[in-house]
Amino acid sequence: MVNAYLDIGIQSRMNRIINSKDNRVVMLAIDHPYFQGPTTGLRNMSNTITTLLPYCDCLMTTRGAVRSNIAPEDVGSKPIMLRVTGGNSVLFDELSDEKLTVTIKEAIRMDAAGVAVSVYIGSANQQQTIINLTEMINHADEYGIPVLAVTAVGKNMARNLRYLSLASRICQDAGARIIKTYYCEEFSKLVDAVAPTPVVVAGGKYSSPPDALQMAYNSVQAGAVGVDFGRNIFQDDNPIGMIKGICAIVHENHTVKEALDIYNAYLPDACKLD
Ligand code: R5P
Repeated sequence: MVNAYLDIGIQSRMNRIINSKDNRVVMLAIDHPYFQGPTTGLRNMSNTITTLLPYCDCLMTTRGAVRSNIAPEDVGSKPIMLRVTGGNSVLFDELSDEKLTVTIKEAIRMDAAGVAVSVYIGSANQQQTIINLTEMINHADEYGIPVLAVTAVGKNMARNLRYLSLASRICQDAGARIIKTYYCEEFSKLVDAVAPTPVVVAGGKYSSPPDALQMAYNSVQAGAVGVDFGRNIFQDDNPIGMIKGICAIVHENHTVKEALDIYNAYLPDACKLD
């Protein structure tokens, strides 16, 4: 089908990021050290990436991780969603003070399939982060690179439909090609509010395999094209079982129970979950 709204470069890269057969994606978020340092599960980041890369559709990560933590033989095996904003750390309370940290030329040189920009709507640095997004879109559009907007949520913001829809709609209006946001009640209304822009759901803090699988299930049932989970995969004791369970939900419409059976298949009997 001809899509008059996308140019060929954008379409080609979107097809690498989101599987064009089922219009779904399991993106693996391993970009946390850009502000958290060596967080749990990423102390040996090369090992984590090598272990999980074969099972994801796309890796969301940073320039440093691509340079230092992807084995040479794995480079190019999966599309990279390259984080291009940063500038703060967990040592400061206010995390919204981000700027663009990677140029579009560098993203092209690294063969990124897309670039990711965080926006902090309602924060002290709201305008700066929206301008980061629009500036990167201005550059990326010139070269046919899709921009994923992350609706980062500050400490004082509620993760509810009203806030997340507002933030997501602003990202769409700026020209983002994919929106990453958090799951909330009545999530299908958020998806409708930004349609036809695809939405992926962030995982958030580590919870539990049943809860994370349930969130993945609820997200795609509500119309998300998939998930972009990090800690709920790489901080789990059974990360391969976890990502395979998520893939079954996202790509094969499996139930949470079926996905949990897949998860359990990678565990010894004594450790299996109900
Ligand atoms: C969000 O701003 C960053 O991309 C995070 O590092 C990522 O969303 C974290 O993923 P998760 O919350 O699933 O660990």
